[in-house]
Amino acid sequence: MKNYLKILICFLLMSSPSWAQSDGQTDFNKDWKFYKGEVKDGESIGLNDEDWRTVRIPHDWAIEGPFSNEYNARCGGLPFHGEGWYRKHFTLTNTQKDKHVTIEFEGVMNNSEVWINGHYLGKRPFGYLGFEYDLTPYLKQEEENIIAVKVKPEDLSSRWYPGAGMYRKVWLNINNDVRVNHWGTFVKAHNVTSRVATIDIQVEVQNFKLSDEIVSIKNKVVDANGNTVKELHQKTIAEGKKTIIAQQSFNIIQPLLWSIDDPNLYQLVTEIISKEGEVMDTYRTRFGVRDIKFTAKEGFFLNGELTKFNGVCLHHDLGPLGAAVNRRATQRQLEIMKEMGVNAIRTSHNPPSREQLEICDEIGLLVLDEAFDEWGIQKIENGYHKVFDEWHERDLRDMIRRDRNHPSIIMWSIGNEIKEQKVKDGWKVAQKLAKICHEEDPSRPNTAGFNQYENSIKNKLAHQVDIVGFNYKAAKYEEVRKNHPDWIIYGSETESITSSRGVYHAPFLEKYKKNTDHQVTSYDIIGPSWSYPPDMEFYYLEQNPSILGEFMWTGFDYFGEPTPYGGRDNSTNGYWNSDWPNKSSFFGPVDLCGFKKDRFYLYQSQWTDTPMLHLLPHWNWKGYEGEEIPVFAYTNAEEVELFLNGKSLGKKVKGVDKGIVPIQFQYYEGPYDFPSPYRLRWDVPYQEGELKAVSYIDGKVVGEEIINTHLKAKTIELTADRIIISSDDGEDLVFVTARAIDAKGNFCATFNGDIQFTVSGDGTFEATGNGDPSSLVLPNSKKLKFFNGMALVIARANEGKGGTINITAKGKGLKTKTITVKTEAQNKEIQ
Ligand code: GAL
Repeated sequence: MKNYLKILICFLLMSSPSWAQSDGQTDFNKDWKFYKGEVKDGESIGLNDEDWRTVRIPHDWAIEGPFSNEYNARCGGLPFHGEGWYRKHFTLTNTQKDKHVTIEFEGVMNNSEVWINGHYLGKRPFGYLGFEYDLTPYLKQEEENIIAVKVKPEDLSSRWYPGAGMYRKVWLNINNDVRVNHWGTFVKAHNVTSRVATIDIQVEVQNFKLSDEIVSIKNKVVDANGNTVKELHQKTIAEGKKTIIAQQSFNIIQPLLWSIDDPNLYQLVTEIISKEGEVMDTYRTRFGVRDIKFTAKEGFFLNGELTKFNGVCLHHDLGPLGAAVNRRATQRQLEIMKEMGVNAIRTSHNPPSREQLEICDEIGLLVLDEAFDEWGIQKIENGYHKVFDEWHERDLRDMIRRDRNHPSIIMWSIGNEIKEQKVKDGWKVAQKLAKICHEEDPSRPNTAGFNQYENSIKNKLAHQVDIVGFNYKAAKYEEVRKNHPDWIIYGSETESITSSRGVYHAPFLEKYKKNTDHQVTSYDIIGPSWSYPPDMEFYYLEQNPSILGEFMWTGFDYFGEPTPYGGRDNSTNGYWNSDWPNKSSFFGPVDLCGFKKDRFYLYQSQWTDTPMLHLLPHWNWKGYEGEEIPVFAYTNAEEVELFLNGKSLGKKVKGVDKGIVPIQFQYYEGPYDFPSPYRLRWDVPYQEGELKAVSYIDGKVVGEEIINTHLKAKTIELTADRIIISSDDGEDLVFVTARAIDAKGNFCATFNGDIQFTVSGDGTFEATGNGDPSSLVLPNSKKLKFFNGMALVIARANEGKGGTINITAKGKGLKTKTITVKTEAQNKEIQ
């Protein structure tokens, strides 16, 4: 195999590559000491930390629990505030001595302070962005060095679960005295067509020495097949103690365009070469070539193709893994979204992990990268407003500098539902932030998500951004288009319907209320006053085709905000524990574990073309014999026929036979019973047995879905998301789903019995979950309950040569089952 191909494969397989990185970047994530609590002189060299726990970064101390109503359910009922300390002892290796050494944190949640050998390096209040400190002047070349990190998140500082600690990766950057600056490359493609594209490259060369250096900059562009597309050389003077900017421009003929269906990527390899010919730094930047165009009349175009945003908002937690970033968990989350038909992600309401952006680049998802949930005016007591004045400019510029090379990113969002909407001169802040975005990146538009429809327009905040996002204002699209025909508009946040996977309450089409079981029906009709079922957004988008599309709230359930339980509404400050034990949200079409709820299929029926069919509810209604139960089919086929115990209940035509859905929400003036062209509905007198749906296109059968009345659970079915995972770096995960099954092979949709997992072999137990928003079983418990027939276990592959992981599930009265997953060293060829 050719060398370049091997290197490329290595980059594709490595589970933690950083896509704007110097070859001097060194893994610094293992063997950190951790202590939860206050430590006097925690930074001092003499402190004895032998008894502290050894942890691996990324680490989230709060997900270890306990869940308690001592903590705020709005933030997951988990102990994310307080003080925590991390320390790492290290000695420079021979090749690291006398180099320029920096430490790079990709994100510490939050209010971090860092010391090296007792010297204070700095603080960073915002937890969602990375930062770098220069260690060089304080390093001991021969003796042990100690890095100390103090983390001090405050209570009432977030509206969702933020996680706590060093929850993103950390690196030691070992460089020569001349290097490419941190986040120091910017690759911009413009005038892009399928025939040619102009590429502008900007490289920041940093010289730490006092004297000027003559250097040559070699920029090589390599395509996804490993072919060198262009090589450019430039001689320049890197002035002493300064950072200079070198620029180059060239054309790529017949560029391989980046798109949602075919996300082609290029790599820029930058070398800084001394006048003696020594390569002083090699820095790799991945980028994509694509054309984006936003118009008020028609919408958004990607490479000339009209593309509607089928978007979701996502918070950053990874369910049972908490906020600790893991590449595979992030990838699985985004793959599930893509399967639902999603083509765009809004990183609500903060800069996301590097891994998330890399995967969006790789699998073809557009990204709206959002900076803030709060500006200077308070939403919550200890929110970002406390540091806004001092830090907003640095944070916003850093977000753009960090993220600007990702082809997936199409807009920068300066804020979500910021309170400045309601004040007269709030527009000035919006104008300042929008200007920063233009200065840092003239190639992408900026935006914001406005929820105060009248105020944001009256106070002229909406006038400051390039693209106007409205939260929950589908019923206003027509009006705003008429009043502002030149505005480019989209639904920055939509829907907010709540549901618990597999839960249906009788009477069936219930209204918005709290239930004694602490759950919400899965008929996809219930939500808070500002919310509305997906049907309404689909409907208004159809009526207003120039609207760019939507970002529904939220793709996945997340820890915190257990609406309707707990807090009354978004402006409730303080504790949300009146309905404890509810501690996680109900908003997702997918639950905390990645299990699909009914709503997943409603979106899929609208956002995908491959024939699909889904039926709800379950069919275990003992005691309701003869009562009419609403049965819905979600499909993208033309017609569906429903059968009960073999008897046809009639065919219905999608879009013609409209399923009645009860609707009520702010600004909506239509009938309470909305005839939805997006759902098919039958009211079926209950009789146990088999409910079957058959779907047709052009009169031909394209799908079938059967739900049976299930018997007692007898056995467990185990399915792994992948049967071979990587043992390269101890970071790869396997997600195993357990389903309860009866003696006839039917899925037991109402089974809530116990289950216990064990993990053995060449992997370790990582976490469990069942998606129940009111369960207080911690993810680090191997014992839990099925929630409506399902449970999840996550195992981690050991680092090494590879082998097998055995995952066993047992439960009282159930046949014990084991699944075996292979682990293998996937990049061994390259080593
Ligand atoms: C929105 C807010 C989101 C979330 C959502 C719940 O107003 O922007 O962060 O709170 O409501 O419906």
